[in-house]
Amino acid sequence: MTDILIVVGTESGNAQMVAELLEDELGAMDHAMEIKDEGDAAAMDLAGRDVVLICCSTHGDGELPDNIQPLADSLEQDKPDLSHIRYGVIALGDQTYQQTFCNGGKTMDGLFAARGARKIGERLEVDACTQPLPDEDALEWAKEWVTLL
Ligand SMILES: Cc1cc2nc3c(=O)[nH]c(=O)nc-3n(C[C@H](O)[C@H](O)[C@H](O)COP(=O)(O)O)c2cc1C
Repeated sequence: MTDILIVVGTESGNAQMVAELLEDELGAMDHAMEIKDEGDAAAMDLAGRDVVLICCSTHGDGELPDNIQPLADSLEQDKPDLSHIRYGVIALGDQTYQQTFCNGGKTMDGLFAARGARKIGERLEVDACTQPLPDEDALEWAKEWVTLL
């Protein structure tokens, strides 16, 4: 059993829906799941975490959703040591935005890596254009991901 914190970045709810499905499904596999979506790094208590799953969409022109921006700002400005953290990334985007596809998830991936966190597995990039139900892809990916922890 692993304690897993899912950090959600969402504007219109898709990433939240994915996170809630994973909370249920991985929880049923006896992992202890918690979702945080307020974006406040202090509230997430990353210092006390071992495994983080980032589930983040992209908005604007390759920008982060508003709710996760405070966490991104904190990682950039406060530069916490996250070398104790293993993390994975589910990035939601749309290939129509060719230049900025999944930039939100890519940005969070880069911020965690820059703080010394260790990525487990490859980042999943879900294209809303070809996969209208992002939770199916995400669940398949996540079941594999937890075996790598
Ligand atoms: C106004 C707007 C801007 C978007 N910009 C991007 C973008 O720059 N890159 C990208 O990959 N996807 C972009 N998307 C697609 C969203 O990331 C995608 O629809 C995602 O599933 C939304 O998830 P959410 O409901 O959790 O926010 C954009 C969507 C909207 C509505």
